[in-house]
Amino acid sequence: MRFLITAGPTREPIDPIRYLSNRSSGKMGYAIAEAAIEAGHEVILISGPVALNRPHGAAVIPISTSDQMFDAVQQQTRNCDVLVMCAAVADYKPVAVFTTKLKKRDAKLALELIPTRDILSSLPKTRKYFVVGFAAETENIETNAQKKLLKKNCDVIVANDARVGMESDENEVEIYFRDAEKKTISRASKRIVARELMKIFEKYFEKRLTKKTQ
Ligand code: CTP
Repeated sequence: MRFLITAGPTREPIDPIRYLSNRSSGKMGYAIAEAAIEAGHEVILISGPVALNRPHGAAVIPISTSDQMFDAVQQQTRNCDVLVMCAAVADYKPVAVFTTKLKKRDAKLALELIPTRDILSSLPKTRKYFVVGFAAETENIETNAQKKLLKKNCDVIVANDARVGMESDENEVEIYFRDAEKKTISRASKRIVARELMKIFEKYFEKRLTKKTQ
């Protein structure tokens, strides 16, 4: 199968030297890319800025902003079987980017932000590829993940407690499917979690593909 995987944070520029971002390390997305390669799949990895070695065997498309990630996903979904949206895409960006360095003053400073475009929600409702969304939550994980599964029209959603997975080498996740099925992968290294996820994705997608061709 051809996997398109997004990983890491995005950076939303404020001025030439500052940006808004988040604590995503990219470790989970990179581990999924490695697990997919190990299992014999083709991988294109759209990566935000991270301090990780590129997975051997993956084609890496480096991006920085949410708009660049949006465009790269739109382009690459033309040739993929599975999209795994593991990236922590910024939800807001500055309304305008200062072209010169914002100088320090004694007064308060308010930065005006606008929502970024939601990549998952912008995908066509009928499509040939499967879509795996992620949900990083700090409360009501199951309810929020189920809402995202439907609202963002994903086939599968992988939810985790952001306080456990963020920046860590370990993770523990719950996987929700459209038919209300739920699976849990208990706490383990991201490498192990990624391998387990890959087995679940393969099984699920093969089942769905067999159904479609019958
Ligand atoms: N996502 C996306 N486009 C965005 C923001 C997020 O496609 N502009 C994707 C993420 O890659 C992830 C899923 O949406 O697969 C859920 O991301 P998450 O940050 O958990 O949720 P949000 O949509 O940002 O909602 P909230 O911040 O309210 O939890």
